[in-house]
Amino acid sequence: MNILDHWHPILPREQLKDKPVEVQLANQRIVLFRHPEQGIAALDIRCPHRGMDLSYGKVQTTGLACRYHGWTFDAQGQGYSPCNPKLKTQTTAYTTREYADFIWLSGPASQAPFPAFLLPNYAKVGVHLRRVQAPIEPVIDNFLEVEHFPTAHQWLGYGVQQINEANLVIEKDEQTVQMGFYPIEPLYPLVRKIFQLPVGSRYFMDITAHNSPLYTVHHQGWLNPANNQKKTLLINVVFYVPLNPSETLLVMFLLAEPGRFSLLKNAFIRQKTGQLIDDDLVILNNLVGKNLKVQDMRLGAHDKALIEVRKRLPQIYADYYPKETGKQ
Ligand code: FES
Ligand SMILES: [Fe+2]
Repeated sequence: MNILDHWHPILPREQLKDKPVEVQLANQRIVLFRHPEQGIAALDIRCPHRGMDLSYGKVQTTGLACRYHGWTFDAQGQGYSPCNPKLKTQTTAYTTREYADFIWLSGPASQAPFPAFLLPNYAKVGVHLRRVQAPIEPVIDNFLEVEHFPTAHQWLGYGVQQINEANLVIEKDEQTVQMGFYPIEPLYPLVRKIFQLPVGSRYFMDITAHNSPLYTVHHQGWLNPANNQKKTLLINVVFYVPLNPSETLLVMFLLAEPGRFSLLKNAFIRQKTGQLIDDDLVILNNLVGKNLKVQDMRLGAHDKALIEVRKRLPQIYADYYPKETGKQ
């Protein structure tokens, strides 16, 4: 499949009001506009008449009117010229959808399944959005290993020894790559108190990487010392939107059980997950090797999940990986 065959979150819903907004996906510049009858539309940003940027246009009753000569396009991309009423034209129109307070975009004739991740027993308690100065590969790599916890996220409290001794489990099937991280140390008393967990509880994180689009779901919770049962308390769902070959939009949705967390705890979750992402951005924005392939890196035991996911990328986003060079 090509990138535009998949659904990607592209803009928080509240950022699209009555004016058109430019977004980017897979190196394409796209204009979004909200029309009272036609809904949310997404068109190629270049006006087919003489190339004006349609994000300077105005939403009118029949569609989006170009700022230059007033050619007007509806949500399906059909256009007409007010000064040449017989002249009709067609521009590229993308498919849009609203979900989880975001506007999602896919290509004109997409058959891809929609990555519906909301769950009946979990509420959306926050979202983080960051533009990362790196291509999609190193951004995903970062979310598929825990070796960087003691150094990049020192405040989390994991020591080198803990990461070394933790149980790492990797499984895969056609649709997913799964990784589990099970440190053996009990949780810090403060964390235990905040979440009212039994003495001896241990943290776990299960990560699943999905194929369409490429996104990861991180279940985090605690293992009950009495029966070793898992209890998921927080789910992070992370999308990696390829804007262009050197920038990625990172969108992380936070899901938690309603009632389990007070407003204060939700604020704590938002603050700490935001801090984690910002730690990661310091690394990702400053990588020297942003375009390294698997064979160019010296990988270790903690990198097994990322190797698997990297293998799948050329199939998932085929057009981003031209055959001649192996990568754009
Ligand atoms: S360039 Fe858009 S109407 Fe002429
Ligand atoms: Fe990280």
